Amino acid sequence: MARILTITANPLLDFLSSQALVPGKVTRCPALSPMAAGKGINVARVLQRHGHQTCACFFAGSHTGAMLSEAVAADGIPTLAIPTRARLRIGLISAANENQAQGSLLEDGFAVEEDEAQALLDAVNGRIADQDLVIISGSVPDPRLQQLYAKIAAECQNQQVTCWIDSYGAVMDAALDSPHPPSLSKPNREEYAMGSQWANVEELHITDGGKGTTIRRPEASYQLSPPPVQEINPVGSGDCYLAGLAHARLSGWELSDQFRYAAACGAANAARWDVAQIAPGPAIDVLLPQVRISEAR
Ligand SMILES: Nc1ncnc2c1ncn2[C@@H]1O[C@H](COP(=O)(O)OP(=O)(O)OP(=O)(O)O)[C@@H](O)[C@H]1O
Ligand SMILES: [Mg+2]
Repeated sequence: MARILTITANPLLDFLSSQALVPGKVTRCPALSPMAAGKGINVARVLQRHGHQTCACFFAGSHTGAMLSEAVAADGIPTLAIPTRARLRIGLISAANENQAQGSLLEDGFAVEEDEAQALLDAVNGRIADQDLVIISGSVPDPRLQQLYAKIAAECQNQQVTCWIDSYGAVMDAALDSPHPPSLSKPNREEYAMGSQWANVEELHITDGGKGTTIRRPEASYQLSPPPVQEINPVGSGDCYLAGLAHARLSGWELSDQFRYAAACGAANAARWDVAQIAPGPAIDVLLPQVRISEAR
């Protein structure tokens, strides 16, 4: 069992409706169920289900923030919730079930003031020394936070704890361009195309849904073919891939088995309608032999 801290600067409280939205009509539904969403929270959930000791750190402002903290805690994940004056963003997912296509509406982000960003840094810095791995996932809710990930990565380096970042755009470039870049990143193909500093990361996984993944490590590059599955909802597959990779690496598995497990976790998620609700077991195991790995020096 390992200790992993995940950081989600831009989480979301999603409201899930079983009825599809019909434009121009009032649609009644029995309930709008609140659901925790956020990339690092997804990673923490999957790792927690693999038996690791995780902690999910995130901004959580006002009443919607309190609802998010409650939902994450209800999943059995210890939380480190940092209050903001602005309320946490919300989203609406309509008709999210196995029979109907899913549509969603979501707010972009929320304001984070300087003292609130500092409170997150202080909370994280106080926890880093106890961790085997720190994983930062997703975007930032406020453009003023562009140095946030670079600062966390620097503190991880200071305290000699491994830091992985799965993000994109200016905040990712700033972390990669800093004196202490993360040791691993996992952009998808589109995010990779947006960045300019990927050369600075030691290990890079460029995923592309059901198509091949390219991995660049110092000793070699690898190509992964994911196992074929009937895709239902690929949202969160990158988070499941990263959680699977972290689980396999922290368990000391061979490199090829780490890649195989990561790809199987991503695919197992894509084959379900819900997001990052996979757990160890047959749904992942059955896919392992179908992952193909080749090396390209
Ligand atoms: N349709 C699919 N079939 C098989 N494997 C898939 C499929 N979709 C995703 N995967 C697996 O999950 C991995 C990550 O998927 P993807 O590239 O979509 O991540 P992502 O865009 O970062 O997702 P997110 O950010 O929503 O978590 C892929 O490399 C692959 O191993
Ligand atoms: Mg992703």
